[in-house]
Amino acid sequence: MAGRPFLQIPGPSIVPERVVRAMSQSLIDHRGPTFAALLREVLHGLKALFRTAEGHILLFPGSGTGGWECCIVNTLSPGDQVLGCVNGYFSDLFCRTATSHGIDVQRLEVEYGTGVPADAIEERLQRDKDHRFKAVLIVQTETSTGVTSSLAAVRKAMDAAAHPALLLADVVSSLGCTDLRFDEWKLDVALTAAQKGLMLPPGMALLAVSEKALEANRSARCARSFWDWQAVLESNADGHFPYTPATALLFGLRESLKMLSEEGLENVFYRHARLADACRKGIEAMTLKLFARDPAEYSNTLTAVSMPEGFDSDLFINHTLTLVDLPLGKGLGKVKGKLFRIGHLGSINELELLGVLGGIEMALKSFGVKLPLGAGLAAAETYLLETADKRLPL
Ligand SMILES: Cc1ncc(COP(=O)(O)O)c(C=O)c1O
Repeated sequence: MAGRPFLQIPGPSIVPERVVRAMSQSLIDHRGPTFAALLREVLHGLKALFRTAEGHILLFPGSGTGGWECCIVNTLSPGDQVLGCVNGYFSDLFCRTATSHGIDVQRLEVEYGTGVPADAIEERLQRDKDHRFKAVLIVQTETSTGVTSSLAAVRKAMDAAAHPALLLADVVSSLGCTDLRFDEWKLDVALTAAQKGLMLPPGMALLAVSEKALEANRSARCARSFWDWQAVLESNADGHFPYTPATALLFGLRESLKMLSEEGLENVFYRHARLADACRKGIEAMTLKLFARDPAEYSNTLTAVSMPEGFDSDLFINHTLTLVDLPLGKGLGKVKGKLFRIGHLGSINELELLGVLGGIEMALKSFGVKLPLGAGLAAAETYLLETADKRLPL
């Protein structure tokens, strides 16, 4: 198709031209001084993004799934008990990764479409008088349902219970889109992947880890070799890796960090929040329902939309692709066929969002869903106009 390609799945997000150009340069020696300078710059930029002065950044070729495994095998031992918060497809998989390494995961099951209630975590930790839970596993933004849980509230709950468990957070769909404060919320591991808020092609897992997590790492007995933190930290100290790193992705990462810093993190978060709001208003004006229940937990990364009764969302997604070449996210696991997901993360602006909403409206109408054509676009446009001059100060 002619024109700009759209990719409105909730990751991978669109890779901006600047990042593409940065990655298409000649490779350099990953054991040389130019590489060491690149690594230093990238680690410095990531510390600012994770908002950590105390934490250590670790990078691995891989994806978010690799990030889960890396987090588990470096901090835990077979037989350890953890509290696993499950409110969607990805949090379920995070917990299953732990189970597959012999960890005893006590699941805190939460209804899909809602965030993890901090008071339920506090209650489970209060009951754990012997401190058997070694960690709490949680996903900040559950990409399968479009829900963001409050990590600040979880930290408060853990402190209220005076529980020493590690706080291990998946921030795959939130870093670079939504507020995240590694030091302030005393996270022990925050793991993410390249292809979401960082606007890179897939291929890298990124972790911030606390001193407390490093301490746990020294006694953790899960088998590990490639994922081992100590070897990477030692090698990084003089600017290198113990294996051949993903050099082109690191070029791209340096550029995307520069873009985020030029825009200003607060502005990046505000842009995501405003476009997400406009998207939700548009969808509701189309008379469709959001899958997330509580407005306080709406994700600014993506919107999950319940498919109207009698329609299959997988078929609708195929229809949208054929009609206007617009890829949308499918319903995963338990909600397969029941919802579609709109990614509005990374490098996206107002006009692009309006294009997406217009395409969805046309596709719904021609798919047979009864809706007032144009109402969704009008609602989003009205909101964007109302908020047009509300820029955050830099
Ligand atoms: C919240 C979350 N965690 C983990 C993953 C798994 O990441 P990957 O597909 O990069 O392995 C995803 C993927 O979309 C995700 O959304």
